Amino acid sequence: MHRDHWAKKAKLDGFRSRAVYKIIEIDQKVDLFKNVYTVLDIGSAPGGWSEYAAKKCPQNDIFAIDLLDMKPVKNVSFFKSDIREIDQVEPIFTKKGSFDLVISDLAPNITGIGAIDDEAIYEYNTLTLEVALKYSNNKSKFLIKTFQNSYLKKFKSFMEKNFTLVQNFKPLASKATSSEIYLYGEN
Ligand SMILES: C[S@@+](CC[C@H](N)C(=O)[O-])C[C@H]1O[C@@H](n2cnc3c(N)ncnc32)[C@H](O)[C@@H]1O
Repeated sequence: MHRDHWAKKAKLDGFRSRAVYKIIEIDQKVDLFKNVYTVLDIGSAPGGWSEYAAKKCPQNDIFAIDLLDMKPVKNVSFFKSDIREIDQVEPIFTKKGSFDLVISDLAPNITGIGAIDDEAIYEYNTLTLEVALKYSNNKSKFLIKTFQNSYLKKFKSFMEKNFTLVQNFKPLASKATSSEIYLYGEN
């Protein structure tokens, strides 16, 4: 499917980013929001995933964090901050250990130099997983964007140490030419 197809569809469906179709497809496969009352959305801007989370859990607590600004999404509390400083974001910090679902579509800046990018992605993925483990409860679910690279196996085994079930997804809305994939873990 052409990239523009998803952008046009997002506009028609009233979502602010095409990225939303990636989480929708994964949700249809794993029932992501079942028994979920509190969500932490990491790397949330421009906000497609937050909009979808708010739609799925309209009465619940949804917190989002990004380096960039994000226009308000109803029922979502947004904080402009680097994920590396999440502990300084008081309203999120006070919910430490309580999130049912952590979702991360965070993507670091890419230099185009394979070895440097692979390492940066691994470092961000590891940091994000550590944040998810610290901020979520022991029945939590975790969805993260990563890339098919030399560190994927290592990162996946880190996921497997912390979740009883770990699955890979390559959603249709993710460009076939991109090495982007999603890992999902649940307990
Ligand atoms: C692909 S976009 C997310 C799209 C989003 N899921 C949506 O549906 O609209 C990735 C986001 O990660 C954010 N990001 C990158 N590095 C970050 C960091 N260190 N801390 C917080 N956010 C970061 C970027 O600013 C960018 O907005």
